[in-house]
Amino acid sequence: MKKLRVGVLASGRGSNLQAIIGQCESGDIPATVAVVVSDKGDAFALERARNHSIPAVHIHPAYYSGREEYEGRIVLEMQEYGVDLICLAGYMLLVGKTLLEAFPGRIMNIHPALLPSFKGFHAQGQAVAYGVKLSGCTVHFVDEGMDTGPIILQAAVPVYPDDLEDDLSARILEQEHIIYPRAVRLYAEGRLRVDGRKVFVLRDGKE
Ligand code: GRF
Repeated sequence: MKKLRVGVLASGRGSNLQAIIGQCESGDIPATVAVVVSDKGDAFALERARNHSIPAVHIHPAYYSGREEYEGRIVLEMQEYGVDLICLAGYMLLVGKTLLEAFPGRIMNIHPALLPSFKGFHAQGQAVAYGVKLSGCTVHFVDEGMDTGPIILQAAVPVYPDDLEDDLSARILEQEHIIYPRAVRLYAEGRLRVDGRKVFVLRDGKE
């Protein structure tokens, strides 16, 4: 069977990318990371890709007339590498119509909170400031909203009264590295079925 080809969009450190690469290389995920694209030339994610001989491409948004043209370039790059699924991994820009229409239902993201709580930036800081006792992370399909698409997997972690944003971020990140590769694996195995807002995980062909 042809292996699923994953394209990763990242803006920074790339630890989730690393987790996905690791499980693709070990054979736990029946997929290949085909290309890594970043809007930031100095993103460590690009370095991580090169370390694994994965094509690493910098596409600078400022070189394009607007989001449509910029995303059009990303689409071309993803198509060039035969990408089936796009994973956003710390990608700091909102995904627009051009990417969504080129990859309908085929873009995933990880967010460091239990959605629909604490959308947007500094989700871990928002959770600490709000005083919640539990937070976590969410892998979801991407739609036109910010952190609003159908939820695939979530993991919860405790939030302690003396936590700082960094403490909670580190606790959540450990879980991100577990559930993001797991979600990619389920997708690669054809075990995700989306019905409206709900994502069903199929077991042995059944729900
Ligand atoms: C993660 O916390 C992820 O949830 C958020 O951005 C961060 C990316 O970290 N979307 P990394 O680049 O994968 O290390």
